[in-house]
Amino acid sequence: MIDFIRDNIQINNNITWIEPFLGSGSVAFNLAPKKALLSDSNPHIINLYKSIQNNKLTPEEIADHLKIEGNELAQKGESHYYQIRKRFNQDKNAKDFVFLNRCCFNGLIRFNKKGEFNVPFCKKNDRFRKALITKIYNQFVAVRERILLSEWDFVCQSWEETLINTNSNSFTYLDPPYVGRHTDYYSSWDEKDAHKMISAIEKLKGGYALSMWFENRYRKNLYLQNFEKFASFRYFSHFYHLGGSEQNRNKMIEALVIHPDYVKQNLLKNDLNSLVDIEFNNHISA
Ligand SMILES: C[S@@+](CC[C@H](N)C(=O)[O-])C[C@H]1O[C@@H](n2cnc3c(N)ncnc32)[C@H](O)[C@@H]1O
Repeated sequence: MIDFIRDNIQINNNITWIEPFLGSGSVAFNLAPKKALLSDSNPHIINLYKSIQNNKLTPEEIADHLKIEGNELAQKGESHYYQIRKRFNQDKNAKDFVFLNRCCFNGLIRFNKKGEFNVPFCKKNDRFRKALITKIYNQFVAVRERILLSEWDFVCQSWEETLINTNSNSFTYLDPPYVGRHTDYYSSWDEKDAHKMISAIEKLKGGYALSMWFENRYRKNLYLQNFEKFASFRYFSHFYHLGGSEQNRNKMIEALVIHPDYVKQNLLKNDLNSLVDIEFNNHISA
């Protein structure tokens, strides 16, 4: 997906990258713009990256924390997971947030109506083996390096507030939640938001790209028709597996809706007639 975005948008090194639905930050971290405004409505995501930026939290501290709590988890099992979850919901500690995120069910980030993290345990007591801790440590070293080398602002705010900062020298990348999927204390997205976003994007200053599913085996995303009169489209197709069975092999086409002036002119044009199917190895559990 990252390569697909990189191959289809035309931006220069001086732009400010604006990403109002940051999530894990995988797009910004991989594309590595020099200047960026990175925001999300979830304060725990923003707090984690800000803590790394101002050196309040180091990759070494994260790895030590995972080692200690991972050992306890291996000995005590899920009661320890729920103890850390309770502690996080009281103290909102960024290290506990990383711990929970790495051993909760499917790596989900969800909060109940009271703003409490409520994802259950992944049920693997020996989750934090040495190899996993080393991998997480290396990821945070790379994240810290990237943040410290760049001029990035992390802000906790709604997508609409973030879009106020767009200008002729910015490029905005939007990856909003799915309408109708789970909404929680920090993350809400309904038909009204989706509708508001159409005119917000049309009026946006500078460039933009919006990521969204276009078509699967059963349905087409009719919402995307709203962008046809003013934006360009590029497509990317892949297969995913439900429950790991070959019979449940499903094709999904993703779209990138791009400001026409910012479309990279490729020899391999990603239009609907020249799609190359990509097989994803990640199997989605039913
Ligand atoms: C689909 S995810 C983004 C995934 C991201 N591209 C990544 O690489 O992980 C959507 C994100 O939008 C955030 N979000 C949900 N509602 C929001 C809102 N009203 N304003 C800003 N962010 C919101 C969620 O917290 C979530 O992190």
